[in-house]
Amino acid sequence: MKNPHEFIEKNVGLLTVMILIAISFGAMVQITPLMFQQQTMEPVKGLRPYTALELEGRDIYIREGCVGCHSQMIRPFRAETERYGHYSVAGESVWEHPFLWGSKRTGPDLARVGGRYSDEWHRVHLLNPRNVVPESNMPGFPWLEENVLTGKDTAKKMEVFRGFGVPYTDEDIAGAKAAVQGKSEMQALIAYLQSLGTHLK
Ligand code: HEC
Repeated sequence: MKNPHEFIEKNVGLLTVMILIAISFGAMVQITPLMFQQQTMEPVKGLRPYTALELEGRDIYIREGCVGCHSQMIRPFRAETERYGHYSVAGESVWEHPFLWGSKRTGPDLARVGGRYSDEWHRVHLLNPRNVVPESNMPGFPWLEENVLTGKDTAKKMEVFRGFGVPYTDEDIAGAKAAVQGKSEMQALIAYLQSLGTHLK
């Protein structure tokens, strides 16, 4: 065989295998070390799991597609840290399943939006963003105010998260239903937003 490269390029199956090996090297070099670094696996100081209500709010955030317009990942660049606060660190996401870092910013990053506005601001904004930001192109979510949580699956969800290593206690799980029952989806979503990124402020 004069030219092994030509042989590989003309042999689709072999070429595929070689490409896969080449790509997985990149993944291995980048991802494997992260799995063994304490810094990326240990929760930051003061991190606490979401309360039952915040957890329901997080599910509403996912359901309504907020992640399609909002990232939750502040990069370590001056332009970002001056606008949003401390850059995001891995230890803040250890209990996020799945994480909601996002990749699209039609609206601002929300990684540290907790505490930036009052609950009432969020409520008025979510009903119709133009109420408070006239030029906003964010859609309104008025049904959140009407939909009421039953809490039917909340305890189950917390159990599943506990299986992933989120430190929920038996009391957290036992009290989950009562903590959310009768609250509106709006209240849950706002509780979730107010919890975002507050431990590293
Ligand atoms: C179509 C894109 C889009 C979607 C979907 C969307 N947003 Fe927004 N959002 C925006 C834009 C644009 C802004 C900036 C203008 C404004 O404040 O309304 C914004 C602003 C915000 C702000 C204020 C952030 C700040 O720091 O001032 C919050 C909070 C927010 N959105 C939450 C949400 C939540 C929660 C959802 C899902 C229920 C959502 N957004 C869905 C586009 C979107």
